[in-house]
Amino acid sequence: MSRMFVPGPVDVAEEVLAAQTKPMIPHRSKDFEATFRKCDERLRQVFFTERPVYISSSSGSGLQEAGIRNFANETVLSCVNGAFAKRWYDVAVVNGKQADKVEVPWGEVIKPDQLAEALKQKHYEVVTIVHNETSTGAENPVKELARVVHETSPDTLILVDAVSSLSGTNIEFDAWGLDFLLTSSQKCFALPPGLSFGAASERAMKKAETVKFRGWYFDLLLLEKHRAKDSTPMTPAMSLIWALDVQLDRILTEGLEKRFARHAAMAKRTQDWAATQGMLPLAPEGYRSKTVSTINNTRNMDIPALNEFLKTKAMKIANGYGDLKGKTFRIAHMGEVSMADVDKLLAAMDEFLKQM
Ligand SMILES: Cc1ncc(COP(=O)(O)O)c(C=O)c1O
Repeated sequence: MSRMFVPGPVDVAEEVLAAQTKPMIPHRSKDFEATFRKCDERLRQVFFTERPVYISSSSGSGLQEAGIRNFANETVLSCVNGAFAKRWYDVAVVNGKQADKVEVPWGEVIKPDQLAEALKQKHYEVVTIVHNETSTGAENPVKELARVVHETSPDTLILVDAVSSLSGTNIEFDAWGLDFLLTSSQKCFALPPGLSFGAASERAMKKAETVKFRGWYFDLLLLEKHRAKDSTPMTPAMSLIWALDVQLDRILTEGLEKRFARHAAMAKRTQDWAATQGMLPLAPEGYRSKTVSTINNTRNMDIPALNEFLKTKAMKIANGYGDLKGKTFRIAHMGEVSMADVDKLLAAMDEFLKQM
């Protein structure tokens, strides 16, 4: 199979694609509810939680909005170090919240001291953090950030977007004391786009009871009422849930530890290769993504030309995001991508660089 080394939507295994062709059944039926329950149970393993995991028929942005609307009446502090972190801040603003930012240049990460400082200046109901900034390949130290929030402002809820990292790297919802953790189907889960998954802590759900104007579609209290009966208030994206059912088995059969190790090894191989070619990752050492390597394009490769070349070998990488277009390039190694795929890609890139 050829590979797309892009940070979503990623390649989906044949067996998972095929699962979507299963016939529809009424969603208010024992059969559907049994599958829905099984999906929740296995998602809890991936999220390292005993809390339920909501399955939303929306992409991850829907759950970013859910986090803002359910858990904050007024005040939001957004950690901003890239495009998707900025988007979460924007979501807070357009939903009428008083949102502030703790901001660092793209490529860098938010440090625990910085966050603690911001929390000492003003009280916030929630803090938003993007675990793996897909636009820059920087991984925020969420475990440490969560720790300083607990120490500095214990009642502030910790909302984490792990859209491009969950199931590719270890994120422990319960042990790290997170309050809301969301991800999308089309990245490390290697599913088609259209689903997102989110867990909320008990205290966050209690807080939601006090929040006005949670909306309807993403009202987590309403979702919970139906989830408790293995169902949803609205019609779920059934074909995608058939695919999820198959893919969760594949993920757990590989084993989470092995899956995380595979992603980490592919990141190391890619980032080491880049260094030998005189190109360093954008993010500082120790904070580099395990799922999408973002490399400074110091050799001035023409990225569209590189992709034309890779197309002849049925491969594709991603250009830099936004202002980083041309200045960086991104090699995503997530989902179904194997080390053999990465080696094949890097050999092709060596060939391209030699020809330049
Ligand atoms: C870190 C991050 N957050 C949020 C999003 C938005 O997710 P979706 O496209 O599933 O709505 C993306 C999409 O690439 C992302 O990478």
